Amino acid sequence: MLITFEGIDGAGKSTQINELADALSARDIETVILREPGGTAVAEQIRHLLLESSHEISPIGELLLFSASRAELVQGVIMPALASGKTVILDRFFDSTTAYQGYGRGLDKELLRSIIAISTCGLTPDITFYLDLAPEEALKRKFAKTSLPLAFEGDELDRMERSGLEFYHNVRQGYLEIARINSERFVCLNALDSITVIHDRIIALLGERFGA
Ligand SMILES: Nc1ncnc2c1ncn2[C@@H]1O[C@H](COP(=O)(O)OP(=O)(O)OP(=O)(O)O)[C@@H](O)[C@H]1O
Ligand SMILES: [Mg+2]
Repeated sequence: MLITFEGIDGAGKSTQINELADALSARDIETVILREPGGTAVAEQIRHLLLESSHEISPIGELLLFSASRAELVQGVIMPALASGKTVILDRFFDSTTAYQGYGRGLDKELLRSIIAISTCGLTPDITFYLDLAPEEALKRKFAKTSLPLAFEGDELDRMERSGLEFYHNVRQGYLEIARINSERFVCLNALDSITVIHDRIIALLGERFGA
C-alpha cells in the first residue's frame, strides 16, 4: 500500500508520518518511510540542488529536477518495496508538483500531467492525507523557537520556502482544488487540530478503508 502526505511546509507532515509509522510497526506492518525529493544517492544530490543551494533555478528546470528525483525513487525504491508487500509512507509525491510547480509557479497543468505520468510510471497513491494550513500559521510554526520576523525569506528557510507568501497562498488553493478533483483518494485534515486528534483520524480512516 502506498500512503502519501501532502501540505505546505510546516503543516505537520513529518510529525504525522512518524506517528503513523510507530502505530503501524506496533501492529507488525512492515513500513518504509521515504521523502521527496530524495531517497536514493542521485535523488539526494538533486534534493541538495533544489533545496539547500542558493542557485537560481527556472520553473521548468525545477520541475524536471523534482521529476528526475521522483523517477529515481519510484523505480529504485518504491516499486521494489511495494512489490515485496511493504507499506510505503511517502512525504510528498506528485501532488506536490501540481500544487507547487502548477498552482505556485504557474506551469501548464497538461505539461505537468505528462511529466508526472513519465516520472511515476503511472504509480498513484492508495490514499493521500492532505494537511491543510494557512501559510501564516505555517510560518508561526517554522519560527516558533526563534525571535526572527515572520516572513518567507532569509537563510533559515530552504530555496522553495523563500518563494514568498503569495506563492504559498496559491499552493494552498492548489492543494484544495486537487483534493476536490481527487476526492476518492484525498483526505483533507485540519492541520490546526492537535497532533493526537489528527493521528487518531488517520488511523480511523485507514481502518475504515483498508482494514489496517
Ligand atoms: N497539529 C499540530 N499542532 C501544532 N503544532 C504542530 C502540529 N503538527 C506539527 N506541529 C509542529 O509544527 C512544526 C512543523 O511540523 P512538521 O515538521 O511535522 O511539518 P512538515 O509538514 O513536515 O514541514 P516541512 O515541509 O518543512 O518538512 C513542528 O515544530 C511540529 O512540532
Ligand atoms: Mg517535514
